[in-house]
Amino acid sequence: MTQLSVNINKIALIRNSRGNNYPDLIQVAKDCERFGAQGITVHPRPDERHVKFSDCYKLKEIVTTEFNIEGYPSEQFLKLIQDVRPHQVTLVPDLPNALTSDNGWDTITHASFLKEVIEELKKSGARVSLFIDPIEQYIEGAAHAGSDRIEYYTGPYAAIFTGDPNHAISKYKATENFAHSIGLGINAGHDLNLYNLKYFKEQLPHLAEVSIGHALICDSLYFGLENTIQMYRRCLE
Ligand code: PXP
Repeated sequence: MTQLSVNINKIALIRNSRGNNYPDLIQVAKDCERFGAQGITVHPRPDERHVKFSDCYKLKEIVTTEFNIEGYPSEQFLKLIQDVRPHQVTLVPDLPNALTSDNGWDTITHASFLKEVIEELKKSGARVSLFIDPIEQYIEGAAHAGSDRIEYYTGPYAAIFTGDPNHAISKYKATENFAHSIGLGINAGHDLNLYNLKYFKEQLPHLAEVSIGHALICDSLYFGLENTIQMYRRCLE
């Protein structure tokens, strides 16, 4: 069973564009859960252009499924995690002004930094996941650093899926068993959508969770949020 965590950053982006509280992020999170989301994901970035750090405190009070906070482990982020204590923290190697996450951790170069940060984060009780490209040595590095899970960066998969699904999935398929065998749980995210999700899930039997934002929110403009969440859930059955 693969869980669907809905990333609500884009809802916050729309809200912020007018400077008021519409749409209401908290209500949308509650509705996502009511419509079938099995988790809520947010990614507060340093410029707070979508989800703000203060939103995370309010979300923690109402999220009844899994609350996943993604981000670069800056001091501000580590303090947030200590305060909010989400169920899962997903660490990404984003630069402060990144448009979106576009690569996984080099867990060899940053081994001691990650080990230290993960040790600290675990004190909050959160499960820790590292955003990773499907490269065996980086996956091994994630386990050595003490991570509980990896989140495969699926941007490159999505980019070539339409032309060559077999090739697109090959590196994920080749490394999945290894990740599982060394005790890592497996998440995935980025650019997953209604066309490429089902195949990804079918090819990776150990996939525990996907977090999806951009495409899901875009699809909900046409299908409505409830239908859309159900459509994504069906891709994961
Ligand atoms: N995982 C991580 C680490 C991300 O940064 C993002 C985007 O915020 C996602 C998953 C979701 O990607 P998308 O919005 O393309 O579904």
